[in-house]
Amino acid sequence: MRVRLKGDVICTLLLLVALCSLLYSQLEHLVPVGNKELPQQKPSVAPKALSDPRAAWRAMPAEATVPRPRVTPVIRRTEVAKKRVQTTTPPALTDSAFNFKHYLLNKDNRNFKLLVNQPRKCRRTPGGPFLLVAIKSVIEDFDRREIVRKTWGREGVVNGEQIQRVFLLGTPKNRTVLATWETLIHQESQTYRDILLWDFMDTFFNLTLKEIHFLSWAAEFCHNVKFIFKGDTDVFVNVENIVDFLERHNPSEDLFVGDIIYNARPIRVRKSKYYIPETMYGLSMYPAYAGGGGFLLSSCTMKKLSRACREVELFPIDDVFLGMCLQRINLKPILHEGFKTFGIVKPSAAPHLQTFDPCFYKDLMVVHSLKVAEIWLMWNLLHSPRLSCTQKKQVKKPFQWKRKAQTTPQASPLG
Ligand SMILES: *[C@@H]1O[C@H](CO)[C@@H](O)[C@H](O)[C@H]1NC(C)=O
Ligand SMILES: *[C@@H]1O[C@H](CO)[C@@H](O)[C@H](O)[C@H]1NC(C)=O
Repeated sequence: MRVRLKGDVICTLLLLVALCSLLYSQLEHLVPVGNKELPQQKPSVAPKALSDPRAAWRAMPAEATVPRPRVTPVIRRTEVAKKRVQTTTPPALTDSAFNFKHYLLNKDNRNFKLLVNQPRKCRRTPGGPFLLVAIKSVIEDFDRREIVRKTWGREGVVNGEQIQRVFLLGTPKNRTVLATWETLIHQESQTYRDILLWDFMDTFFNLTLKEIHFLSWAAEFCHNVKFIFKGDTDVFVNVENIVDFLERHNPSEDLFVGDIIYNARPIRVRKSKYYIPETMYGLSMYPAYAGGGGFLLSSCTMKKLSRACREVELFPIDDVFLGMCLQRINLKPILHEGFKTFGIVKPSAAPHLQTFDPCFYKDLMVVHSLKVAEIWLMWNLLHSPRLSCTQKKQVKKPFQWKRKAQTTPQASPLG
């Protein structure tokens, strides 16, 4: 009798333990993925994403042996990821995982009101401006807009050509961060007349909306412009070189030039911020597209793109979306070596960067990922009358802060 009772108890205990472990294992599956620590990128997925040869080059160990230059190729996380993501470190997850279902459901809601316009922007110069500089910004980045206004983004005449500027903004996603945003934008618009503000939330995944709305705006309010440069606020742009390059082109012909990425594959790694499920994009490769740091287009291409983009379904990565529009009008974007929208990572370039050699920048058109002070410094060094770059990109003396007036910033020659 006692033996049987003991046996029953043991049996019950064993069953209970089994039940508990079963429950526990089920529970583990129920924990949402987003709550788990993001594991290091599995090496098995990396080669797949490194479809772009330049991505592979970026990830090369050679880069690591070069001392980190001051002008940092600390490429913006978004940029790297947009292009091919798996470089050395995986990008972090967004605060809130991107909701594809929500995105797909709201995809047709793509017309938002223009809250602040500059309808006369392109009418001030007879015949229209030669170059319109359109810069993506967010309201909070007032200091970045200021430095762009004071340096490469100045309105006026460069090499005899008229340059105009606009900033492209949406409404801030967190309005508590900048309670004064409406007043600020109103004042900025009054003072500089360079603000375009649309009534959509300014988030990374809404940059495609910015693209579409800007192109529509340009087609409507700036149809007489000859060329457009579209870029970010953290780039340095050598406007003189761009004007020089564009003067050799016809604005009524197609032109789309930038740092073109070919054969990039959609990221199918769920944990990536840039994950695109097959239901959203079924092909294995993206069309050729330009890195968002900066690219050039002609008036003719702007008008065609503005129409084409209206017919392309919204896609959350704006650079790729524009690539889709280009594909639709059958236009092949042109890669230009002067566009370093990836920052400068070429190991051989590092010594120049370390010394902040303006002669090195003299030959470039767009360099991405610069800090406010770096943009200011580079622009001033490049516009110094003392600058002489006759020696073929040789760094004689490393750049240093000097007490003498030698490196004193010069006033703008643009007037
Ligand atoms: C907005 O920013 C404030 C201050 O940084 C923060 O406390 C709040 O949680 C943020 N709200 C959202 C919705 O992100
Ligand atoms: C884009 O903006 C709209 C309008 O403000 C907003 O409803 C939507 O959530 C935003 N989408 C993303 C992906 O941020």
